[in-house]
Amino acid sequence: MLDRASLRVLSEALAILEQGFSSLPPTEQTGGADPAFEGVLREVAERLRDNYPYFHPLYAGQMLKPPHPIARAAYALAMWINPNNHALDGGRATSAMEKEAVAGIAAMFGWSAPLGHLTGGGTMANLEALWIGRQLSPGTVLASSSAHYTHGRISAVLGVPFEEVPSDARGRMDTDALAGRLARGGVSTVVATMGTTATGSVDPLAEILALRKRHGFRLHADAAYGGYFGLVGDLAPETRRAFDGLGEADSIVVDPHKHGLQPYGCGCVLFRDPAVGRFYKHDSPYTYFSSTELHLGEISLECSRPGAAAAGLWATSRLLPLTRGGEFARGLSRSLSAARALHALIQKDSRFLAAFDPELDIVVWLPRARTAKEASARSRRLFEEAARRDLHLALAELPLRFFGRAGAAIGRPDETATCLRSVLMKPEHADWVERIWGIVVEAAGNSGVER
Ligand SMILES: Cc1ncc(COP(=O)(O)O)c(C=O)c1O
Repeated sequence: MLDRASLRVLSEALAILEQGFSSLPPTEQTGGADPAFEGVLREVAERLRDNYPYFHPLYAGQMLKPPHPIARAAYALAMWINPNNHALDGGRATSAMEKEAVAGIAAMFGWSAPLGHLTGGGTMANLEALWIGRQLSPGTVLASSSAHYTHGRISAVLGVPFEEVPSDARGRMDTDALAGRLARGGVSTVVATMGTTATGSVDPLAEILALRKRHGFRLHADAAYGGYFGLVGDLAPETRRAFDGLGEADSIVVDPHKHGLQPYGCGCVLFRDPAVGRFYKHDSPYTYFSSTELHLGEISLECSRPGAAAAGLWATSRLLPLTRGGEFARGLSRSLSAARALHALIQKDSRFLAAFDPELDIVVWLPRARTAKEASARSRRLFEEAARRDLHLALAELPLRFFGRAGAAIGRPDETATCLRSVLMKPEHADWVERIWGIVVEAAGNSGVER
């Protein structure tokens, strides 16, 4: 089940890496030859069994996706060197790989000369984007009520006012409400979410861009989860339109450790105007900016960063280039079709209320009941019954307005209910939908979910 074939290839690649240093006098590194090593590693394996099977298609809960084997192997290979991409002195090869891999991500948005780099994750990447926004103009930050909570928290860290714009019945930013707020003034940055964490809803970027023309704010796109979906050919027309406008944003965050097949510790922030690099300027007597070539530490808030993350990302983009209709894009497309297929099954079943059509690969639904409270209790029971059958779903607290007329029948539009949520982000999910559904139906029978 867990890929071990890559271990042989990794071992051979390690020999090639070692040859690069063959002129050095030998030095002992015991590692695996230490008798205690094996015992400890076996203990680690035992400890790691206490996890949900994130790598398996029956894990269809939270936003967790296994790295591609090439990313895992390249990351591991780099760990024998442990480069630090803060400065070229700490990670020459991996700094070059980072610049190339980041250029590949930027090219998805038609950006040929942006400023960008990898980060520890989406939070750090968004922090940098909002920090640059504040340096340029310290006004209010707006994001939708369905945006990731990180934006409110980051704004507090930066000491700038933050306000939520309501999201509509599809979980997208309500642009009438946005227009109303902009008219009152004082807004410096609007965050558009290109794939919300709870439902995968994509904010209407074209309308937001039209408002920018009128009101002149900075537009930051949080595409941490959804950013790669622009490569997919069969998006719904409105979603396509939103992704087609992404190149117009001032900054974009995309997380390779979400949909980019990378191990955790790999976010990415991009700025359309490379001149914002001036805000990062710093002097440090103890670091080692020894060449005139760009050191990544000169354009990032974090100092030490794993060069291994860049090696993993670079290797993945070599194997699976970020091209429309390519193999990488086909993987995302399969996730999207898995979400659509699960949504269709939910729609046909009178035991459940389906939310709006999935825009990306997240599906949410609710067991039918007379009240939101009763529906929530059923969701929780079904979640547990499914887990007992090895199907791992997630729960999310969502407003009833996401369920249209059926939602209105059980409560007020802004009243929330605990819903079932499934992120079908593994391409293999496309082949597992029927099986997943079979377990949902069986679990429903044991959870008091009635037709
Ligand atoms: C849209 C969005 N933005 C930001 C984040 C935060 O990213 P991270 O968990 O990598 O810090 C997430 C995480 O799920 C997200 O979905």
